[in-house]
Amino acid sequence: MNRENNRNFLEGKKYNIITFGCQMNEHDSETIAGMLEEEGCRQVLTKEESDITIINTCSIRENADKRFFGTLGQLKKIKEKNPSYMACVCGCMMQQQHVIDTIHEKYPWVDIIFGTHNIDRFPELLERAYMEQASVMEVLADTSHIAEGLPAKRLYQHKSFVNIMYGCNNFCTYCIVPYTRGREKSRAPEDILQEIETLVRDGVREVTLLGQNVNSYKGEDAEGRRWDFSDLIYRINAIDGLQRIRFMTSHPKDLSDKLIQAYVDCDKLCNYIHLPVQSGSSRVLKRMNRRYDRQRYLDLVQRLRRAVPEITISTDIIVGFPGETEEDFEDTLDLVNQVQYDSAFTFLYSVRKGTPAEKFEDQIPEDVKHARFERLVEAVNEASSKKNAAYVGRIEKVLVEGVSKKNEATLTGRTEGFKLVDFAGSRDLIGQMVDVEITEGKTFSLSGKIVEK
Ligand code: 5AD
Ligand code: SF4
Repeated sequence: MNRENNRNFLEGKKYNIITFGCQMNEHDSETIAGMLEEEGCRQVLTKEESDITIINTCSIRENADKRFFGTLGQLKKIKEKNPSYMACVCGCMMQQQHVIDTIHEKYPWVDIIFGTHNIDRFPELLERAYMEQASVMEVLADTSHIAEGLPAKRLYQHKSFVNIMYGCNNFCTYCIVPYTRGREKSRAPEDILQEIETLVRDGVREVTLLGQNVNSYKGEDAEGRRWDFSDLIYRINAIDGLQRIRFMTSHPKDLSDKLIQAYVDCDKLCNYIHLPVQSGSSRVLKRMNRRYDRQRYLDLVQRLRRAVPEITISTDIIVGFPGETEEDFEDTLDLVNQVQYDSAFTFLYSVRKGTPAEKFEDQIPEDVKHARFERLVEAVNEASSKKNAAYVGRIEKVLVEGVSKKNEATLTGRTEGFKLVDFAGSRDLIGQMVDVEITEGKTFSLSGKIVEK
């Protein structure tokens, strides 16, 4: 980032970022932090201590909207005490006109509004807001722009997210993402490889490749050749010093045999997949526009497990999609019992303005949704507990990520299958791969002890 713009007045300013939503947003926040640090700013933990607050928003479900407006309301008091305080908002919600209208109407004191396609412009917008002492808004509808070479302040030293593509073309009928993040666009393979090589030189051992639907990656290289997602994995697997590759998220309709083979061939590709099913009923899947049915999903799981018996599988499930009958819901329960997921994120269906499902007539009453949700959580947790209990006695390779929030003497890390493990050990193991014998399997995590070599 050039510093010729004479932004010295940013030197020493304190900022904090409040992030809602998915890994994409977390990663965008890392980029925003990286840009601000290059300008000489310093991160602090609370909005009360800071000169600049950025709220990075999520629009996937209604409760994320509500939490955003709640948090935004709190900034007003800070601004009243400190008139030079900068209240900035960005992320998916800013790509929705009705949100912008609400901010203008009810929160006119917000200083900067920017969207998901122009986070690289933030330092400049900040400069304008300071110089002109006026609110600045820049939200792009055009989603074709990809900014390369932006700095990032990583959340973890030894693992990192890497965007490989942006946007989504799938238009699942419940989902707002294609409207807020725009159409799919893949980064060039050379840019991705160079970023990972730089990260590895900087001590990163594990990368998570990010995209709404990584299976449809189609990056064009300098010679005009199109790479698919598996091509990219094979090439990343050859990077010296890198130990683990993960990715997020896969759409079942695009999961190829070639990718399944990549699990077999690529030693660094972790034996883990997040494969959102959304519903176990073919009828509901059709209305969701998922473009696979129950049987195809179950076949995929079988093919994955046949090729990679150790693979761990997690999923996303929506309960109470419009028109979901008791029978449809039981199909979901039945699928959960058949697949036996290692873990599952369960969501109550939430109406999103502008999506096709908003117009579906047979919305499910809240009490029915909640009752189904509880039954689903019970089934999901039972499977997770069973899966985790079966790990007792096994020795797992764990990348040590940090110390436990509850106990300084306890380390935490992830197994290859993305299971969280806690175990006793000293801080200097952070960033290293250690062998851990699992001594206890709980619903959401494992406990163990380091195997001395
Ligand atoms: N309501 C509830 N859950 C949703 N998701 C996406 N849109 C909605 C919605 N409108 C869930 C899906 C997706 C995950 C990231 O969020 O399960 O996979
Ligand atoms: Fe949303 Fe479907 Fe795209 Fe996932 S694949 S981001 S659920 S539209």
